[in-house]
Formats: sequence, C-alpha cells, structure tokens
Amino acid sequence: MTFLFNSDAQRGAVFREAFARELPHLPFAIGPATVDPDGVRYIISWTVTETLERYRNLEVLFSVGAGIDQFPLNAIPPEVKVVRMVENGIIRMMQEYVTLAVLALHRNLPAYLDLQRQREWRALAQKQAADRRVGLLGLGVLGRAVLESLKPFGFRLSGWSRSDKTIEGVATYSGQAGLSRMLAETDILICLLPLTKATQGILNHELFARLPKGAALVHAGRGGQLDHLALLAALDAGQLAGAVIDVTEPEPLPADHAFWGHPKVMLTPHVASATQADTAARAVIDNIKRYEAGLDLIGLVDRTRGY
Ligand code: NDP
Ligand code: OXD
Repeated sequence: MTFLFNSDAQRGAVFREAFARELPHLPFAIGPATVDPDGVRYIISWTVTETLERYRNLEVLFSVGAGIDQFPLNAIPPEVKVVRMVENGIIRMMQEYVTLAVLALHRNLPAYLDLQRQREWRALAQKQAADRRVGLLGLGVLGRAVLESLKPFGFRLSGWSRSDKTIEGVATYSGQAGLSRMLAETDILICLLPLTKATQGILNHELFARLPKGAALVHAGRGGQLDHLALLAALDAGQLAGAVIDVTEPEPLPADHAFWGHPKVMLTPHVASATQADTAARAVIDNIKRYEAGLDLIGLVDRTRGY
C-alpha cells in the first residue's frame, strides 16, 4: 500500500524524508508515473486532472491546500475520503496576512500611499482600535486563528459561520438574519469562507450595501466569491473605502484589470498563505496514524456541504 505524492518536488523531498522516518512501513512515491496504481492507498495532490478510477484501492485523497474547491468532487469515487490541509504553517501565515491587511486598512495605509505619490504631507483622522469593528466571514480553522491574532489590538470582533458558535471576546452570528446584523456593524470585513455553491458570488453589490458607508474589505477566501464590478462600483461610490484582495477569478488577474491601478485596492497574487512542507508533512503523517488507528481524520470534507 503506497502513499503517492503528486505535487512539487521541493515539498516532495521534505515529505519523503519525514515519511521514511515516521511511517517506514508505508512505501512513498513521487509522481503517478512511478507507481503501480493498484498499490496506491493515499494520494496528496493540489487537484485531480486524471481519472482516479485507475487507483482502485485509493482510500484517502489529501489536498495540498486548505481549500478543496479545485477538486472535481463529483468525479471522485464516493468511497474515497477527501481531506483538506490543516497545518500550523498555513495557519500562521494567514494570521500574518490578515493582521497586516486589517492594520493597513485601520491605519489608512492605502490613502497614505496615495498621498505619498502626490508628495502631500497630511495627517488623516485616525480611529482607535476599540472603535473599529472587524467582522469575519468564516469561523473555521483559519478564521478562528485570525481572530486570536487580532484580539491583542483591541478591535471589536465579530464573526459569521454556517453553524452557531461561541468564541470568547467575539460576537458570533449565523444564518441570513445574523449576516445582516453583523454586516450592519462592520467597518472592516474579512472573507475566509470556502468556495461552495452557497458562497459563490457572496461578496456582491447587495452585501456591500449592507455595510456601513466607508467600510473596507479583506478578501483571502477564493476568487469566485467576489463580484469584481460590484467591488469597483462600491469603491468608486465611496460605499467602501478600501480593499485588500488576495484572490481573484481568474488568477492571474489580466494585466488590464481595473484592480491593478485602483488607488483604493491593495492587491496580492494569492499569497496570503501557503502550505509549509515540514509542518504539512507532520500533519499528514499524524492524520494517517489517526486513520490507521481507526480515529477520525482531521479536515475530513463533508461532500454534501462542499467543504
Ligand atoms: P474551514 O472549513 O475550517 O472553515 C470554513 C468556515 O466557513 C466555517 O466556519 C464554516 O461554517 C464557514 N462556512 C462555510 N460555508 C458557509 C456558509 N454557506 N455560510 C456561512 N458560513 C460558512 O476552512 P479554513 O478556515 O481552513 O479555510 C477557509 C478558506 O480559506 C479555504 O477554503 C480557502 O478557500 C481559503 N484559503 C485561502 C488561502 C490564501 O492564500 N488566500 C490559503 C488557505 C486557505 P461552520 O463552522 O458552521 O462549518
Ligand atoms: C489553499 C490556498 O487553499 O493556498 O491552501 O489557497
């Protein structure tokens, strides 16, 4: 029974060494060309382009990333367990990125960069963190970690998820009525939702209109959640004051897209976070040990929900 690593060679070398040390009974292969398909029990991959039917004994498909929307779930045999990446490196990087983005918006960085380009030395009015309301869409592994990093600054924190949650120091909401209540009291909105049928296009004209005038957006979920024209219209009308955008649809963003030169948009090329080979290898090894001991897999995807 083999573990098939189907991703970049650099991460593969780190995984190979960790697997040899921690799971010496499990043969490890890099790349589909090197393997007997019938022997493959586990695969790790960013996505699936070839048919999985050739791996008749496949039991678990691990995603290299935290998101699994890139997997064609309907084409994956129903008995194969799909597992998203839950690992400390990806969590830490997302904490850094969102903290950076929230602080940049809180401290008017886009406006100061604009003033710098105009060589204008001028102070802008500054709210205190205790008066700034930060609302988060998605209270999963990444969302909750991000909230923990924002707490020390003293922002007023709230969050929205599909199911009800209780998080110390955070006002939590669920359902459509809960979303409306949170949006009405959010100055900086962060999106860390998975891309599903329910969240496709959620950052749209109607949602922006429910935010207080002058609110801002941090989008690090998935490109398909954001309506670009609605964002541009909200920025140009002053309904939104700024946006930090890490994910777009399509990626890469075309060179003539309006986000590139927009003074109220700070754009990064899907780098908010990335799977770190050493911590990810550790997480996958621990998960295989759990699975082989009959315990639940961490990050198991519920295919009916799509995340
Ligand atoms: P999780 O699965 O742990 O959390 C998802 C959260 O979203 C949960 O709180 C869930 O609610 C909530 N949610 C899902 N659907 C809905 C809905 N329809 N309405 C309300 N809430 C909903 O995911 P992670 O935190 O690990 O990752 C989140 C996403 O971040 C990834 O799917 C990926 O798209 C993105 N990402 C982006 C990266 C980047 O570099 N830009 C890097 C890594 C990830 P509930 O708790 O009730 O289930
Ligand atoms: C991920 C990503 O899902 O990099 O891990 O976006």
